[in-house]
Amino acid sequence: MYVEKLIDLNNYPIHQPDSAQYLKIVKDVQLGLDQDGCSVLSNFLSKEGLDAIAKEAELRKSQAYYAESKLCNVYLANGNPNEAEDHPQNIFMERTNGFITADLLGKETYSHMLYHWRPLREFLATCLKKQELYIYEDPVSNMIVNLCKPGQTFNWHFDTNEFTITFLLKGAESGGHFEYVPNLRTKHDECFDEVKKVLNGDRSRAKRLNLNAGDLQFFLGRFSLHQVTHNTGNTDRLLLIQSFTEMPGIIGNPQRVKDLYGKTTEDHREKVSDRARSDRLLD
Ligand SMILES: [Fe+2]
Repeated sequence: MYVEKLIDLNNYPIHQPDSAQYLKIVKDVQLGLDQDGCSVLSNFLSKEGLDAIAKEAELRKSQAYYAESKLCNVYLANGNPNEAEDHPQNIFMERTNGFITADLLGKETYSHMLYHWRPLREFLATCLKKQELYIYEDPVSNMIVNLCKPGQTFNWHFDTNEFTITFLLKGAESGGHFEYVPNLRTKHDECFDEVKKVLNGDRSRAKRLNLNAGDLQFFLGRFSLHQVTHNTGNTDRLLLIQSFTEMPGIIGNPQRVKDLYGKTTEDHREKVSDRARSDRLLD
């Protein structure tokens, strides 16, 4: 199968950037991102594409890595002894899901082909109003599958990255919902009180997405708190995550990569790591 076949190009002609349909799709995505930092293109993957990519993930599930530390705060960081016990930095929640790492999805896989397909990258950049997006050079984590088994969950958190690109490969039978609170913090303000409210159960600003297998989701997770609720069904939830950078040659911080994915490579020892943050937020 050619890489073009992985995407439903009839409904999403991302290889035709001058078409009216393309411009309409970009406009719709940008509207969603402007309004609440989230946008979904339903059935973006073709039926064949979804089947092929989901199968690659299914075949590698037994090799998924689960981080040792199962408790995290929303910053996926250490607590702060200078703050009260009920401060958001000191509230720890369960994170039990695992990752199929990029090194397990080699060049021969459709997952790899999709990630490296230039028209997709250019389309994503246009939607995100970026000059250009580059392949994230981290060989362990640039393209991964998040695996959420029955009973597992991903606690409320903020992302380190400004944006994430995900493709749901398989939804949970029940539970496993993606929930988010748009723009809960800003570049200059952690808004701890608002974060605390959500952690105490306030859902008045929270939204729940109705995602289906094959959907492409854009999400600005640096400012919007989000979680995946417990998978209460009997089957696994699988999510393909693609990461891109705005500068070429970026690789992950070795310690962080090791903590999250259980391994590093020669590249992590040789190349200069990590990007400078454009803000001073806790991670
Ligand atoms: Fe996240």
